[in-house]
Amino acid sequence: MNFQDPIIKYITKDVYSPSEDTYLLLDYFKEIFINKTALENVKNILDMGTGTGIIAIFFALLIKEKQKFNIQIFASDILKVAIDCAKMNENENNLENSIKYIHSDLFNSFPNSLKNTFDIMIFNPPYLPSFDIKEKYSLSKKDTNWDGGPKGYELLKKFLQFAPIYLNNNPNSCIYYITSTRMDLDLLNKFIKKRGFKNKILRKKHIFFEDIILNKLKIPFI
Ligand SMILES: C[S@@+](CC[C@H](N)C(=O)[O-])C[C@H]1O[C@@H](n2cnc3c(N)ncnc32)[C@H](O)[C@@H]1O
Repeated sequence: MNFQDPIIKYITKDVYSPSEDTYLLLDYFKEIFINKTALENVKNILDMGTGTGIIAIFFALLIKEKQKFNIQIFASDILKVAIDCAKMNENENNLENSIKYIHSDLFNSFPNSLKNTFDIMIFNPPYLPSFDIKEKYSLSKKDTNWDGGPKGYELLKKFLQFAPIYLNNNPNSCIYYITSTRMDLDLLNKFIKKRGFKNKILRKKHIFFEDIILNKLKIPFI
């Protein structure tokens, strides 16, 4: 299948520019979802922290191309500018009104109707320890693109605490997310183990002073 990559024409000020971590996700998705039937039985996909919308747009393009799938894509971000930017990119890809947007701090503004509905969730979270970036860039306010909390993993942990409420309990449902050796991975792994989540490392990439890691997590629903 000839698949057109998402066109990301708009990267508004303060919105995260697609980077190595974004492409770690995207390249993997291209491999497992294009020309494959892996989206069969999928109804709802969530791109948490959508930024320019690139990942949500990738899925919307794929669904448009394949036609046979009846899947709703949701994209969410804490930044209103990111939501607006993602909408502009969605239109640039001729996908008007394909994606549903939720302006929200993690799941805070999600409607109850979305509980227990997502088959796939994706999060490329901010993952640097707060202190590192405040020092480096002399920031006065929190940078939501990079600041993952005091040890870099707190926001991701919070996401993983609430995600089970919104993931459906189909055994194939899963969460794809990025971690980095810049965050406290020991604490994150302890949390994952304690909650009984099943985590699998899919890919790793070394860039400058860190490894970025693509993970797939499943939640054993009883
Ligand atoms: C590393 S960027 C990833 C952007 C995009 N998904 C990508 O891969 O290019 C992290 C994104 O998460 C968003 N974000 C940060 N904190 C958030 C929160 N509490 N709730 C929702 N989104 C958040 C940021 O605004 C940013 O768009």
